[in-house]
Amino acid sequence: MPNHNSEREQWGSRIGLILAVAGNAVGLGNFLRFPVQAAQNGGGAFMIPYFIFFLILGIPLMWIEWGIGRHGGKFHHGSAPGMFDVLWKSKLAKYFGALGLVISSIILIYYTYIESWTLAYSFFSITKSYFGLGSFEEMKTFLYNFQGRETGPYFDGIGTAYLFMIITFTLNFWVLYKGVSKGIEKLAKIAMPLLFLFAIIIAIRVITLGTPDPSLPNNSVANGFGFIWNPDFSKLSDPKIWLAAAGQIFFTLSVGMGTIQAYASYLKPKDDIALSGLTTAATNEFAEVVLGGSIAIPIAVAFFGVTAATQMALGGSFDLGFASMPLVFERIPFGEIFGFLWFLLLFFAGITSSVAMGQPVVAFLQDEFGMDKKKAVAAVATIVLIAVQFVVFFLKFGFLDEMDYWAGTFGLAVFALIETILFMWVFGADKAWLEMNEGGDIKIPKIFYYVMKYVTPLALFFIMAWWFVNDAIPILLLANVTPENVPYIWGARIFMIVILLLTFYLIKYAWKKREAENGN
Ligand code: ALA
Repeated sequence: MPNHNSEREQWGSRIGLILAVAGNAVGLGNFLRFPVQAAQNGGGAFMIPYFIFFLILGIPLMWIEWGIGRHGGKFHHGSAPGMFDVLWKSKLAKYFGALGLVISSIILIYYTYIESWTLAYSFFSITKSYFGLGSFEEMKTFLYNFQGRETGPYFDGIGTAYLFMIITFTLNFWVLYKGVSKGIEKLAKIAMPLLFLFAIIIAIRVITLGTPDPSLPNNSVANGFGFIWNPDFSKLSDPKIWLAAAGQIFFTLSVGMGTIQAYASYLKPKDDIALSGLTTAATNEFAEVVLGGSIAIPIAVAFFGVTAATQMALGGSFDLGFASMPLVFERIPFGEIFGFLWFLLLFFAGITSSVAMGQPVVAFLQDEFGMDKKKAVAAVATIVLIAVQFVVFFLKFGFLDEMDYWAGTFGLAVFALIETILFMWVFGADKAWLEMNEGGDIKIPKIFYYVMKYVTPLALFFIMAWWFVNDAIPILLLANVTPENVPYIWGARIFMIVILLLTFYLIKYAWKKREAENGN
């Protein structure tokens, strides 16, 4: 079906593209989510399911998504509805693609807000705003006051957080407005090298900390590494560990979101995807396992000991990133600089991922409605700005967590299963294989043909089923929700359903409009 836009944007250079897709993958998940997942789920033993899922889900899905994306781009589609429509000649195909728009948009809505905290904290570090707070509890109070969860001595309401949200939000949409090569690619070329530089500086600082307090010899960096990496194999019989590992692989690689496909749609038909896909996955793993694993947890153990660090990790990613790390920064020489670098690196990691989450919807409006970029970006910005209000003001009632669960965890597996079946079974494994290898600088090892055709969908199916029974049903039935939060959780669900229905409607409208135009 011919499309509105005859000219689509393209990436400026190979390195720019790889940095942009690596930037899409490397995010807050690498530095905040990963260490907490590893520490909570068996330490070194977590790495066993983690690497298994990297091989049977992560890498195959990367190639599948690059393949679907580049293929869709040939037909001028930059988002999942159009891409699925060319893979499967059924009227239903495009509606399955709705998930690729909804998941990325919902994650974008809450992710930008978390990202804005990192910008705020880099400012708080350099201005030493939190210096002098002596305990973890005080640091948490500072964070909760900032987030508006609790009124308290450090902030008068949510104004500061709101201001940083607006700044972050504006930066994101400004990059999207500048476009694929002049915005996203340029950002990645600046932010990614800096991110790695800052992360390496901080990791070296952590490794050279030794035993910060000689009177407490157990509180050392070496024990910190021991804590995160010592394998507890008994945990491997617990399905939760396997689910957590799969969830981390999806989230960290940004697969199952619709964003990799959108980026790949701006490739030329014969551009390599085999090596590029692998390179971005490997870059992400280096950032996650080597750098992400060497910072937050080891430093917490070195300063506060294993027991306290365990408590901090159990408190989740935000406690670890925004309460325990600042507590360390105020204790080390030049801590304000290290704190500034840490939070700025998180910000760079965040923004290179969040612009990717905005791109599918922008592309959808451009490609399927023929909107110009300015209008498309303005439309998405307006919707996201309205939606983010709920996340900001209902944070303490679990609104963000609910969205993160359904879109950022469960949704990724569902969408990954749909796209794998469509590409490898409906479109056809042989055609898909040719597509993924076309123009490749390497040949994808043949074993992955079978992995993608059989192992990946089967693994996804079992994970989803297991997830549904273990996690989703209790969550669906509101087990463990405090009564006060119940209306907000329902609010979050209704909100997500409304977004999905609206997307269905837009897809229907776009196709109808185009059919009418083609008929004339
Ligand atoms: N892949 C991105 C992250 O890890 C979403 O944060």
